[in-house]
Amino acid sequence: MKKETYVWFEEIYGQSPLPTWGVGADRLLVENLHHIKNRDICIDLGCGDGRNALYLAKFGGFKKIMCVDISEYAIIKLINFAKYLGLENLIEPMVCDMRSYNLESSKFSLIVAAVSLSFLNKRDMISMIERIKNAVGIGGGIYISAFNTRNLENVKDTVSIYDENLGFYTTYLAPGQLYNLFANDKRFKVCEYVEPEVILTYEEPRKLLLSAIFVKKIAEFQ
Ligand SMILES: C[S@@+](CC[C@H](N)C(=O)[O-])C[C@H]1O[C@@H](n2cnc3c(N)ncnc32)[C@H](O)[C@@H]1O
Repeated sequence: MKKETYVWFEEIYGQSPLPTWGVGADRLLVENLHHIKNRDICIDLGCGDGRNALYLAKFGGFKKIMCVDISEYAIIKLINFAKYLGLENLIEPMVCDMRSYNLESSKFSLIVAAVSLSFLNKRDMISMIERIKNAVGIGGGIYISAFNTRNLENVKDTVSIYDENLGFYTTYLAPGQLYNLFANDKRFKVCEYVEPEVILTYEEPRKLLLSAIFVKKIAEFQ
C-alpha cells in the first residue's frame, strides 16, 4: 500500500482565511435532524473548517460537538470561526487521523462524516463505517456523504485510486452501496438516501456526484 500524506489538505485550507467549502450545513443533515431527540454528544469526523459542526453547535442543541480532522490548518480555522460566532464552548477540536481515534461504543447521539471517508482506501472506509455504526447510541443518528463511481467513466464497482499528486487514496462507492450498507443492517432505519450532484466551487466550479444518507439507530443488535 502506498504511503499517505495529507499535505494537500493543508495547502487547500491555507489558501484563504475564508471557509474552504463554503458556509452552511448539508441539506440532508439539516432536514433529518428532527429524527434525533436525545442531543448529547455529536462528533464530526473529517470536519474541515466546520461547515456542519458550527451549524450543529449553533442550532443543534447538542451538549458538545467533537471535531476531528487530520489537517491542523482546518482545525485552526474552525476554532477561529467558532470564536467569532461565540460557539467555542460547545466545540472540542482535535487534530487526529480518524482511523486512530477511539470511537467508543454507543457514545454518540450523532455522527457526521461529510465527504471525508472518501479520502481513505476502500478497506479503511468500510471499517470506519462499521466503527461509526457501533459508536452511535440507540435513538442516535448518522449522516454520511461520499463520492460515488458516477464521477468516473466506465467504473461501476467500488474503487480506490491512489493519486501521487494528492498523496492519498480516494474511494468511490458504487451507486446504492451506501444505502445497502445500512438498509441491510437491522440496527438502522434509513431516514433518507440520495445521490445528488453538487457543485464544488473552491477552485474552478466542478460537478461531483455523491451518495448521502441519514439513518437512525433503532436497535443494538442485528
Ligand atoms: C472535502 S473535505 C470535507 C470537510 C467537511 N466535512 C465539509 O463537509 O465541509 C474532507 C476533509 O476530510 C479530512 N480528512 C481526510 N482524511 C482524514 C483522516 N484520515 N482523518 C481525519 N480527517 C481526514 C480532510 O483533512 C478534509 O478536511
